[in-house]
Amino acid sequence: MNKYDELYRGKAKSVYFTDDPDLLILHFRNDTSAFDGKKIEQLDRKGMVNNKFNGFIMEKLAAAGIPTHFESLLSDEESVVLKLEMIPVECVVRNIAAGSICKRLGVEEGIDLTPPTFEFFLKDDARGDPMINEYHIESFGWAKPEHVAKMKEITFAVNDVLKALFLTGNMLLVDYKLEFGLHKGQVVLGDEFTPDGCRLWDVDTREKLDKDRFRQGLGDVVESYELVGHRLGLNFD
Ligand code: ADP
Ligand code: TMP
Ligand code: ASP
Repeated sequence: MNKYDELYRGKAKSVYFTDDPDLLILHFRNDTSAFDGKKIEQLDRKGMVNNKFNGFIMEKLAAAGIPTHFESLLSDEESVVLKLEMIPVECVVRNIAAGSICKRLGVEEGIDLTPPTFEFFLKDDARGDPMINEYHIESFGWAKPEHVAKMKEITFAVNDVLKALFLTGNMLLVDYKLEFGLHKGQVVLGDEFTPDGCRLWDVDTREKLDKDRFRQGLGDVVESYELVGHRLGLNFD
């Protein structure tokens, strides 16, 4: 497959056109960003680990009937995906309180959220990805109400599949962020599912195994991502 011009260079991935107008190449770089791009570092092997991890998870989701953009791995750091018209809204599900919800609402980290809670954020780094609601999405035309309903439905369906999957590796899926786009009018899961965009804790020790290690300067960031993969039976070599 030929790789043409760069369509977009994000904080951690680059997106390229291909010879097929329906397909793009996602290049997972080693760049690691936090706090809406305020902290950025290069971490060896992260692009490769996240690319393979994402392919593995997307295939599990597809097998469970969830529509995803993932087509195939192309190289260590690249995947082929369906070209989506991205919806500029981030969907977050939280099973356990951590991160921004603790600061915003003054709740203690580690509290179980029953039922799991759901939040929308506007994808806008310059404004710090502000939290928004369904009325904002409709009033500003970021997505149609039927597409919003579908994004919520798919995001919760992903929770059922992945909570169970991570438990097989003795890990708690604390929270995660998903991005969606439209392909031929249908809502499809896009972007990535990796430890960069979710929180994962060891069941017994509650040790953090995700990007909080980078945000909080805990070290062994990529090593932890690889450990998460190994616990699910994924090999990166
Ligand atoms: P960011 O834009 O937040 O800095 P990344 O560095 O991960 O994020 O860049 C990847 C970009 O590619 C994101 O903006 C994401 O919305 C976009 N994207 C992901 N999947 C697709 C897709 N299938 N089609 C079009 N764009 C996509
Ligand atoms: P938060 O606690 O910072 O709101 O994040 C909740 C989850 O969503 C956490 O797993 C990180 C992920 N997330 C991103 O990956 N990117 C984002 O821009 C946002 C808002 C959240
Ligand atoms: N993904 C966002 C960033 O790269 C937010 C975060 O992970 O803290 O800055």
